[in-house]
Amino acid sequence: MVPARFHGGFIYTDMYQLIDGKAISEQIKSEIAEEVKQLVAKGGKQPHLAVIIVGHDGGSETYVAHKVKSCEQVGFKSTRIAFENDVTEETLLAKIKEMNEDADIDGFIVQLPLPRHINEQKIIEAIDYRKDVDGFHPVNVGRMSIGLPCFVSATPSGIIELLRRYNIPTQGKNCVVIGRSNIVGKPVATLMMQKGYPGDATVTVCHSRTANLKEICLNADIIIAALGSPEFLKEDMVKEGAVVIDVGTTRVKDETTKSGFRLKGDVDFANVAPKCSYITPVPGGVGPMTIVSLLQNTLLATTINH
Ligand code: GUN
Repeated sequence: MVPARFHGGFIYTDMYQLIDGKAISEQIKSEIAEEVKQLVAKGGKQPHLAVIIVGHDGGSETYVAHKVKSCEQVGFKSTRIAFENDVTEETLLAKIKEMNEDADIDGFIVQLPLPRHINEQKIIEAIDYRKDVDGFHPVNVGRMSIGLPCFVSATPSGIIELLRRYNIPTQGKNCVVIGRSNIVGKPVATLMMQKGYPGDATVTVCHSRTANLKEICLNADIIIAALGSPEFLKEDMVKEGAVVIDVGTTRVKDETTKSGFRLKGDVDFANVAPKCSYITPVPGGVGPMTIVSLLQNTLLATTINH
């Protein structure tokens, strides 16, 4: 439905297109399932993803459950390895060593965040980079930054895939990334500036210390909001016709839902969407794409490592 709006003395029609991450992710999952079927029919190995989870964080448990279920949907084998909150770093490192050496496991991840007594970076670096389907290991991050084949982390990879599938022009465009995290902001900025499509954009990375954020955003053709602050991006920060990608997934209390919460994006969707050419919703935009990227990386790991 395309609503009409009265604004500044003009009646105009809002023509934004919703980027349907859920539909695209379902489509990619069927493509992966077909590839797995063909791979196994030719005598190839069934891909196997293992996931380590520590403690009982609600968000992490939900994400891991989705990852395991998605493996089933595409014909992967999956293993969930759970530890209690008080697991020692030593035990975790020993498990990672075992998994690095287990030839049946093609790729594995350690769900983050980890309890404070465990050094997250040490854990990430203990994973064999050839099995690091999260793409968090410095070898993969480094290879990505110089454009070499590697595992690209799930969220940036999902964003790039959405731009590709919707044929959204990126070459020479001003792309503003809000947020400088290692998991999203930095890698997506790197990918958007890389040679080729989707890429070739002029990228600006903004963060909490950026002085003239609104002015910079108003000059953006593409805005990727990844700062984790609900409804941060307002309509007066977005120019007409911009493409807006919302990476925010903050849980807010909502008594009307079964779970007691709902997800809120970093974009004030109701007011920003009418100004956009394309926009991702939350939920149903970037979120579903992240698991698909993990599956793509696992399939890649299976074909590389065997
Ligand atoms: N926690 C939030 N997102 C991720 C992710 O992509 N991978 C892992 N391992 N943990 C996360």
